Amino acid sequence: MKTPPVSANTVWHHATVTRSRREAKNGHRGAIIWFTGFSGAGKSTLAHAVEETLHQRGCHTFVLDGDNVRHGLCGDLGFSARDREENIRRIGEMAKLFMEAGVIVLTAFISPFRADRARVRGMVEHGDFMEIYCDSTIEVCESRDVKGLYRKARAGQIADFTGISSPYEAPENPELAVNTGGMKLEACVEQVLSAMANRGIVKDS
Ligand code: ADX
Repeated sequence: MKTPPVSANTVWHHATVTRSRREAKNGHRGAIIWFTGFSGAGKSTLAHAVEETLHQRGCHTFVLDGDNVRHGLCGDLGFSARDREENIRRIGEMAKLFMEAGVIVLTAFISPFRADRARVRGMVEHGDFMEIYCDSTIEVCESRDVKGLYRKARAGQIADFTGISSPYEAPENPELAVNTGGMKLEACVEQVLSAMANRGIVKDS
C-alpha cells in the first residue's frame, strides 16, 4: 500500500483537544461510513436518509457526496482510473479529518476500485471504517437513469462511464451489503443503523 505524500521539512503538531475528548463531548464515536456502488444505486439518498435520522438523535454528522465534491475540492479531476484514485485519496483524507473532529462522516462515491477503498480503510484504525455496498445491478441503475447519464454514456457522449465503459469492482467483504436496488429506503436505513449500532458507533434506537 502506498504511503501518503508528505511535504519536505514539515513536522506533525499534536492537538491537545484530542479526538477522544471531542467524542466524549459529542456522546458518540467518530467514524467513516463508506457507501460504494454504481451511479444511481442510491448511495447519496441512503447516506442522507441515515444522516437525517442520526441528526435527529443528536449525532454530529456530515455527508460527503461525489457530485458535490467534484464541484470544488476535486473539480480538477475527471473519470480516468488515475483521477478516480486521486479523488478517493483526497476524500479519504478529508473523511479522516472529519472523523478526528468526532463526526460520523458518510461518504457517497462510486469508488469503483477495491484498492482505492482498501487504502482508505488502511488509513484509519480497525473499526473506524465501515464499508457499505449499495447493491443495485447496472440494469436497475440504467433503467432508473435519474440523471440521464446512462443514456448519454450509451450514446458515446460520456467516456469511461462506470458499468458501461469503465469497471466497477464490487466489495468482497463489506461490513454490510444493502439491496438498494430492491428494498424500500426505510428498510435500507434500518439495516445501516443497526449495523452501526452493532459496531458500537451509535446506540441502539
Ligand atoms: S468516483 O468513481 O471517482 O468515485 P464519483 O462518485 O466522485 O466517482 O462521481 C460519480 C458521479 O459523477 C456520478 O454519480 C455521475 O453523476 C457523475 N459522472 C460523470 N461522469 C461520470 C463517469 N464517466 N463515470 C461515472 N460517473 C460519472
